[in-house]
Amino acid sequence: MVDAKRFIDEAVEEIDDEIGDGKAIMALSGGVDSSVCATLAYEAVGDRITPVYVDTGLMRKGETETVRETFDYMDSFRVVDARDRFLGSLEGVVDPEEKRRAVGEEFIRVFEEVARDVDADHIVQGTIYPDRVESEGNIKSHHNVGGLPDVIEFDGIVEPVRELYKDEVREVARELDLPPAISERMPYPGPGLAIRVVGEVTEEKLKVAREANAVVEDEVEGYEPWQALAAVVGQGTGVKGDERVHGWIVVVRAVESRDGMTAQAIDLDWETLQRIQSKITGTLPNVARVAYDVTHKPPATIEYE
Ligand code: XMP
Repeated sequence: MVDAKRFIDEAVEEIDDEIGDGKAIMALSGGVDSSVCATLAYEAVGDRITPVYVDTGLMRKGETETVRETFDYMDSFRVVDARDRFLGSLEGVVDPEEKRRAVGEEFIRVFEEVARDVDADHIVQGTIYPDRVESEGNIKSHHNVGGLPDVIEFDGIVEPVRELYKDEVREVARELDLPPAISERMPYPGPGLAIRVVGEVTEEKLKVAREANAVVEDEVEGYEPWQALAAVVGQGTGVKGDERVHGWIVVVRAVESRDGMTAQAIDLDWETLQRIQSKITGTLPNVARVAYDVTHKPPATIEYE
């Protein structure tokens, strides 16, 4: 386990050294990795770091508001509302890797605009150790690794948590006094709800996924899962009153893991599962059925696409 206090001192010093008198920019998603990096960087260089939160419209319920409130104390913090742009670039895209590419490219465009505006010469990234390992193995085109520096020229890339595992980043977050909503936050993928919707991303499917994810996260909190989520996987027949209706099929997933590379499905109790089911179908009349995914990783992945 990492010595969090010592890590913080060394990281602040390293960031200060690397950025020097320059200006830096970073993508702040509100996840624990980027939040720790933004906090360390702000401590090191103050307003010479511009943390940028891009509202892709693919975020979870209330996420944008939480991030806005938490980082509001930084004068240089920016929120970019790019919801329409992301939905537009995902229109008609069904292939999972194409979706990642569409989201990644749009992200780079938005980020590039801010980087030019700020005139940043350094970039800070929240890459952690398992991100690098999966990327090197090319398991998935995670857009939060690489990508950005290839498109925009920076004098330096600063990756303060590159040697840490997720649980170590959380230790550092606690030591930095970040709120539990951030230090204990589950990992959330860059492409967000786009990979919790199988097939084309539409506003209707996003709305179902967003509400269902909020129900699941709330209900399984006590299990302390690595990740818990809901995905919209297709349509099926249900019955409302006397009528047979075609509604969405939502799959619930909750897993334990250390680093996301392998994962075990959690044995949720029947009452919890039933509560999740009735809350989802109760809030969302267009959902016909709710299923629970019992598959470990491997053979399944954690996300649905
Ligand atoms: P999978 O679904 O491959 O996920 O078992 C492993 C971990 O990675 C996250 N994940 C992503 N993160 N961009 C990201 O930033 C992505 O495209 C992406 N795909 C999966 C996933 O949430 C899990 O923590």
